[in-house]
Amino acid sequence: MYRALIRCRACGYGPPIVADGIKVEKSSLRLKTVFDLGIQPLANDFTKEGGEHAGFAPLKVQLCPQCSLAQLSVVVRPDLLYHHYRYVTSQSETMKAHFETIRRLIETETSGRRLLEIGSNDGFLLQWFGERGYQVFGVDPAENLCKKAKEAGLNVRAAFWDRRIAEELKPKLPQVILARHVFCHIDDWREFVLALDMVCGRDTIICIEVPYVGDLLRKGEFDTVYHEHTSYLSIKALAALLKDTNLAIHRVEPLEIHGGALFIMLRRKDTDRYPHKTASQFLNREECGEEAWREFDIRAHGKIGALQSFVNCARTNGKRVVGYGASAKSTVWVNACQFDRRHLDYITDTTAEKLYTFSPGTDIPIVHVSTFATDQPDYAICFAWNFFEEIRAKEKLFAKGGGKWIIPHPEIKVI
Ligand code: TYD
Repeated sequence: MYRALIRCRACGYGPPIVADGIKVEKSSLRLKTVFDLGIQPLANDFTKEGGEHAGFAPLKVQLCPQCSLAQLSVVVRPDLLYHHYRYVTSQSETMKAHFETIRRLIETETSGRRLLEIGSNDGFLLQWFGERGYQVFGVDPAENLCKKAKEAGLNVRAAFWDRRIAEELKPKLPQVILARHVFCHIDDWREFVLALDMVCGRDTIICIEVPYVGDLLRKGEFDTVYHEHTSYLSIKALAALLKDTNLAIHRVEPLEIHGGALFIMLRRKDTDRYPHKTASQFLNREECGEEAWREFDIRAHGKIGALQSFVNCARTNGKRVVGYGASAKSTVWVNACQFDRRHLDYITDTTAEKLYTFSPGTDIPIVHVSTFATDQPDYAICFAWNFFEEIRAKEKLFAKGGGKWIIPHPEIKVI
């Protein structure tokens, strides 16, 4: 189901390879464990009653002392994670505003309108750009989502991004390549970058949107650590990865989405465009070493303990607690806190694919949002905290009826 990773996927740091007939030396070249949540279910393994679960795997972050990349100690088989993928790009107002932000950023760099999206999900972003005059095409490994995109008339291929698919798409000469929240899901970064290089012309701009390790550490958002996110990227680590390739970091822009992300633009090293000043600015002020991870670990375990105590106390006092948003983040919280149906009656979610399933690793059912609207529990933990303002505005009646929101970040807060 998974394999162990003992070498840094950005710079290659790790113990020497053991060869036949050569004495095995004690090696100090080890990745350092900095965060450990034990054995956990796969965060998007929402399964219906009687359905087979994909399984459990260690959830442990290790730090590379050489380039500061943080990565999980194991890689789960990609087909288990992505073949039938239940994460669907949000169509919320927050997300549409975000698309507008990235469109503006892209258009400061290029007037090109041929756009390739890697990890095109159900095609929502492709369609959005298509409506704004872009000629769009996409690649995504999830067959269920590609089918949806094709039904909407979009040009997509169901495949993992590699040199084989790059060869096929090369004649389309993309001028903008967009990979949103894909890079940190990838195990073989070298293959990914080599394939990018194949389709990247001298004027192509490659835009990689990733959750930023700096935000993760600063805000203590430990619930974004799950098996799909195999790496927690720093600019220093990305620079180490690109060192021996034809690509270089051109510009880095911070974004608000998903609790803090980076929009990293790459160009070919032989481009005639000067790198933007943000590229070196980020590199010089990054703090994502062992000390920062130690503080993060203490804070995360403190928050887990605080939510456990709060919910146990509420239950003892006869209060009803539910979850709002069956995000992957909710799976991390629920399992880290060891919650089950004795703690949370249900988690509500708008995604049709998640309805009538159970929160992975538990017996907590995922229910339709209309249940929440008529039910009026005492507390709702907002597990889709990155959309909280939008949710709060939509669910005004809950607060009016005396319901209280529990927000897990930056510290647990009852509103
Ligand atoms: P999201 O934060 O996009 O991602 P992840 O799964 O990576 O943590 O997930 C948000 C979830 O919340 C998603 O399943 C949809 C759900 N949701 C609602 O149920 N109602 C809402 O109003 C919004 C915005 C999201």
